Amino acid sequence: HGAMRLAIRAQVRRGNPDAEVLSDPAVREDPYGHYERLRTAEPFGRGAFARVSVHHDVCTEVLRSDDFGVIGGARPEGLPPVLRTVLRLAGPRKSIGPIDPPSMLAVDPPEHTRYRRLVSRAFTARAVAHLRERTGQIAAELLDDLERDAAAGRPVDLVARYASLLPVTVISEMLGVPVAMREQFLAWGDGATPSLDMGLSLTTHRSVERNLAELDAWFRGHLGRLRQDPGDDLLSQLATLVDDDGSGLTEKELVATAALVFGAGFETTVNLIGNGAALLFAAPDQRRLLLDDPSLWPNAVDEMLRVESPVQRTGRRVKRDTTVRGVHLREGELVLLGLAAANRDPEMFEDPHRFDVTRGNARDHVAFSSGIHFCLGAALARMEGEVALRALFERFPDLSLAGAGTRRRTIILRGYESLPVTLGHPV
Ligand code: HEM
Repeated sequence: HGAMRLAIRAQVRRGNPDAEVLSDPAVREDPYGHYERLRTAEPFGRGAFARVSVHHDVCTEVLRSDDFGVIGGARPEGLPPVLRTVLRLAGPRKSIGPIDPPSMLAVDPPEHTRYRRLVSRAFTARAVAHLRERTGQIAAELLDDLERDAAAGRPVDLVARYASLLPVTVISEMLGVPVAMREQFLAWGDGATPSLDMGLSLTTHRSVERNLAELDAWFRGHLGRLRQDPGDDLLSQLATLVDDDGSGLTEKELVATAALVFGAGFETTVNLIGNGAALLFAAPDQRRLLLDDPSLWPNAVDEMLRVESPVQRTGRRVKRDTTVRGVHLREGELVLLGLAAANRDPEMFEDPHRFDVTRGNARDHVAFSSGIHFCLGAALARMEGEVALRALFERFPDLSLAGAGTRRRTIILRGYESLPVTLGHPV
């Protein structure tokens, strides 16, 4: 049985679009050359069990078309044989998990429409504008802590002490989840995120399952408590929707929705802040532009999302036979959409590999996807990125790297695991 698993894993790796990235640290460090090799004139390249697109216009068209559905919603019989075998060997998933059905990210309409509508009001641009001031306070408190610790000129880790803590604190306060548990949430999140990538080892698979199960159990308990004793937070509103006549969410739907909104609320923004800081360290001229003219910050954040997309790609399944740019696609086929690669498409972005905070069309990136699954938290993430990076760079004009950062081992999520910095004198 063990040998069989190994064989299957090898097979998955061979046909796996992640294989090259998984096995080669240099490619993981800089995947963009790898993406360029996929950039042919055809709308799609061919992986072993999926088509792959790196074109901005093709990605957008697929994401906006209702001939395509999410992969998570696919029934096993609609998947390619290799994936079916892998899923069978992995066994049934015991935890609910933020990216499996019935999470809104993993279902098609009509379910998707219903789940998304229940939470979307909390994430509108207007709702997020109210959080800006509080986010600024959280940033200032975290920077106070950093400054105290770095008093002797010692380096501090920008990811552990700032980039990861800010988003988890903001989303915890929004949802009414205890901020005191934030380190535990970050640990569960880190343990669970490899599940986004394919071709996991069995050890990683087990550790992912353990982390998801713990997160799951905690949310069930928390939502149960809120149902008895609701507060005025978003999760209390969701929890009290549950009732017997079926007009509310089932417990499973409730846990999936809560875990998705919560996890997505901090597992991605940490990478925006870390990647953004690293980009500014590497481009002192861009950093100076921002210090001279702070009105450039919103555009700079979109440019960061474009050149170092925290979610490098997504995928869709063909729901019914269709044609895209003259290519006929059959029901059941899978399509990988290289969001990060599309964000460097020369047809769309001039001099695409250049980081330019004044770029006119930076906001045309697809880092938040497109169509009905367009990131629910986009306004929140943009605001957090802007507040966090501006506060950091304005308070510490001499902030500098104190060594090479280490990249996270995940592939779909791109960001830093650590980024050692020296603060220098505060303003
Ligand atoms: C969906 C990226 C921050 C909540 C998505 C998708 C992407 C994305 C690419 C769609 C995936 C697909 O189409 O298959 C990002 C990035 C972020 C970020 C790059 C930070 C820089 C956030 C935050 C929240 C959030 C702060 C807070 C709640 C969600 C939710 C969905 C989603 C709930 C599912 C939407 C749906 O299925 O309708 N995000 N996200 N995201 N994001 Fe974000």
